[in-house]
Amino acid sequence: MSQSLTLPRPDDWHLHLRDGAMLEGIAPESARHFARAIIMPNLVPPVVTGAEAAAYRDRILAVTGTGFTPLMTLYLTEATDPADVVAAHRDGIITAVKLYPAGATTNSASGVVDFDKVRDVLEAMAEHGIPLLCHGEVTDPAIDIFDREAVFIDRVLEPIRRKTPYLRIVMEHITTSDAVAYVQSQPENLGATITTHHLVINRNHILVGGIRPHYYCLPVAKRERHRQALVQAATSGDARFFLGTDSAPHADAAKETACGCAGCFTATNTLSILAHVFEQAGALDKLEGFAARNGPGFYRLPVNEDRITLVRSDSPVVYPDKIETGAGPVTVFDPGFPLYWRVAG
Ligand code: NCD
Ligand code: ZN
Repeated sequence: MSQSLTLPRPDDWHLHLRDGAMLEGIAPESARHFARAIIMPNLVPPVVTGAEAAAYRDRILAVTGTGFTPLMTLYLTEATDPADVVAAHRDGIITAVKLYPAGATTNSASGVVDFDKVRDVLEAMAEHGIPLLCHGEVTDPAIDIFDREAVFIDRVLEPIRRKTPYLRIVMEHITTSDAVAYVQSQPENLGATITTHHLVINRNHILVGGIRPHYYCLPVAKRERHRQALVQAATSGDARFFLGTDSAPHADAAKETACGCAGCFTATNTLSILAHVFEQAGALDKLEGFAARNGPGFYRLPVNEDRITLVRSDSPVVYPDKIETGAGPVTVFDPGFPLYWRVAG
């Protein structure tokens, strides 16, 4: 007997769509299921001004059509002009600003080194209610890569919170029980996104039995107990946790090489995987909050009126292993187990 679940159309609160041939090839994978997405600005060169964000938004809409709403972000640099940020937000061009510590991840070379140099921008954002989205990892070479998120909380996030307590912040793609506990300890103006893949893999998936480049992303997956803490947070019903897939396509040639890029591509099968994870946790009723309600709540946007239905069948869902794009094939994230939930229609 088939089982089904109907919920408001979900949104993706952290997505990489890239540009050019890659954008053309992969944007339909998100637009098929999601109504809106927060679009990451880490292009080469990055999206740093309101005018660049508007032009990028138009390039996305040219591929997806208007059934999908890209919510644009600016890439914070030490040269960001607070007036440009405020104007772009006032004009409805941007929804948020992204903070990458310099060198933390893919295309983050223009990120922030000295956090005091962006104080004026953060103050202006707090005043105008513009959320700051943090890539929460320090880049200090002395800090072990598995500890970089926890150290970021102490060294960067907590000082920003103390100096600008009214700034609304999202800790992006959290990967540790430390981040879960920190978010739970804070008022509601601190939220966190959780990716699909971090609900599924731990660091063994990357390293045991051979190195698996398609499971390598940043922040890197941690120990199993951290994955369990993320599942617990995502399925708890706590409105501060919401879906940001961090679906981050790289052509296979850039992943399967001696120095492979970070990023898992999950847009194609994210909702099937999430339904599986929530079902396994005995919390299917919490999927609606995580994927469709908590994000709009944090961003002060309406929940989508349109609805989608997930159907559970007895035979596994068939989805492509790779998406062919003009920039090369992109491997779709393999959760390592069969999926039975599919999006109807
Ligand atoms: C992202 C990318 O490829 O742009 N990679 C990743 O591993 N998540 C960048 C990011 O979000 O850190
Ligand atoms: Zn990302």
